[in-house]
Amino acid sequence: MLTINVVTLFPEVFAEPLKTSILGRAHAADLVRYRVVALRDYTHDRHHTVDDSPYGGGAGMVIKPEPFFEAVEALAASAPIVLLSARGRLFGHGDAVRFSMAPELTLLCGHYKDVDQRVADGLGAEELSIGDFVLSGGEPAALCVIDAVVRLLPGAIGDHESAAGDSHYDGLLSPPSYTRPPAYRGMAVPDVLLSGDHQKIAAWRAAEAERLTRERRPDLWARYEADEGKG
Ligand SMILES: C[S@@+](CC[C@H](N)C(=O)[O-])C[C@H]1O[C@@H](n2cnc3c(N)ncnc32)[C@H](O)[C@@H]1O
Repeated sequence: MLTINVVTLFPEVFAEPLKTSILGRAHAADLVRYRVVALRDYTHDRHHTVDDSPYGGGAGMVIKPEPFFEAVEALAASAPIVLLSARGRLFGHGDAVRFSMAPELTLLCGHYKDVDQRVADGLGAEELSIGDFVLSGGEPAALCVIDAVVRLLPGAIGDHESAAGDSHYDGLLSPPSYTRPPAYRGMAVPDVLLSGDHQKIAAWRAAEAERLTRERRPDLWARYEADEGKG
């Protein structure tokens, strides 16, 4: 069973998402357990202070190292430990696969202006970003990581939800999908999908996956072409 630990200023953010849909079902099926702890529980002053002003001056507050260190120690968390961070390396499918195969994953959520750098350095945490934008806190990013990881656990999703054809599994974006009705507001489903010819359908889907990846994600396309060349 995978244990996912989350250290956050806002444990309440996780209550509903972790009960809902695939994340909730995976928990009910004992594929994963969640331990969400409040950063403020690891403070020792009357005001449960977690932040202080930055050394060197400047606006905003920085989360102190002590509460994160004490929370991780209380959880007896082992690697991988992730600090969600806008300046982190981009989180990707490969990370999700790696985390889904580990026995434990610990996610540290920042807030305010920043987190003291000694948290990442001293806890050996990987700094990961979910995209080139800035969130107010690490909580939505942690939920993205949890969702991407848990759906990869064997048994977490049924065949009808089919993970294997999803974007990024084979380095390409997935082809578009259609369902009934065959025509809607003047927009028709591509004929090939109604043809019943499975070979043609597979070829159309493969061509669409390549076209969309080439058009929308030249970065992925270049990597895909390089990998194809090797293989
Ligand atoms: C307001 S942000 C701090 C941004 C930081 N001053 C910077 O410029 O990199 C507060 C917290 O939100 C989280 N966060 C913000 N953007 C993120 C992103 N793109 N990916 C992951 N976490 C993010 C981090 O935990 C961060 O410590």
